[in-house]
Amino acid sequence: MLSISVEEFLLWKKKQLSKGGDHQSFAVLLDCIGGISNSELYLICINPEGRLQLKQDLDFLESIWNEHLIKSCPIQYLCGISFWRDLKLKVSNKVLIPRPETELIIDIVCSLFKKKSEKLFFAELGTGSGAISIALALSYPFSKGVATDIDQDALELATKNYINSSKQSNLKFYCGNWWSPLESFKGKLDLAISNPPYIPKDTYEKLPKEVKNFEPKVALLGGKDGLKHIKEIIQKAPLFLKDKGWLILENHFDQGEKVKELLIKNKFTSIEIVKDLSGIGRFTIGRYK
Ligand SMILES: C[S@@+](CC[C@H](N)C(=O)[O-])C[C@H]1O[C@@H](n2cnc3c(N)ncnc32)[C@H](O)[C@@H]1O
Repeated sequence: MLSISVEEFLLWKKKQLSKGGDHQSFAVLLDCIGGISNSELYLICINPEGRLQLKQDLDFLESIWNEHLIKSCPIQYLCGISFWRDLKLKVSNKVLIPRPETELIIDIVCSLFKKKSEKLFFAELGTGSGAISIALALSYPFSKGVATDIDQDALELATKNYINSSKQSNLKFYCGNWWSPLESFKGKLDLAISNPPYIPKDTYEKLPKEVKNFEPKVALLGGKDGLKHIKEIIQKAPLFLKDKGWLILENHFDQGEKVKELLIKNKFTSIEIVKDLSGIGRFTIGRYK
């Protein structure tokens, strides 16, 4: 641990932020590499006369911040950590950085299944860092979950994140294309969730470089119209869900109505387009019969 005066630290912080970047990314750097959490940062600012302990020196922190600014590399990849809901998850360039808007999926599940003692059997398709499945496995401790991904490296990371976040063993990971690793669970699921790749090809080409140059293409691109994977997931869902089982999908900002049509075509009922905190129809949910 390195001890420096709060005054020196605050001057340094001001200089770093004047170069660019946002406060949230800077807070991630300070927490993950510097060892200064958000609440400590707040206390420092109201007591600027003291000293503070850093896990790494200012030059090292500055070198990471510069790399973030110069290369537009997301700070989460440089630090190897992303915060999502109350989880601290390992991330690498093999997984999508879990987005704040996706956090609402957990709230949607909680509004559908109100009792935390519920013995749900859920599946998540395309788990990436494991964020959604881990949060659900923790929220419903008597549930059983299965999570799939096409990428073995992503699954290794998700497994580590689960072990670091939970003392339980109610979540298992499987590698393969969407439903295919879950053949033995046909007709057994109360709930399936997916935040699949849904970016249309033309939009993908124009994504900001911090996304396009660093985040995995396989996690983003949803074919020409963005609906390629969503279609496949919806078409096979009836084979895996119990009667009245729920399917929750995240989609692109303008895909809600199209996803709704696909759900109707595949005999889903109670269909609803759920808005995110910006008022965008970000999730489409339905019940199989
Ligand atoms: C948008 S990311 C979502 C990651 C994570 N669930 C989240 O919300 O942050 C989509 C995930 O689907 C996975 N994926 C892409 N194609 C797949 C396929 N054919 N079968 C299974 N998973 C796939 C990607 O590897 C990626 O982890």
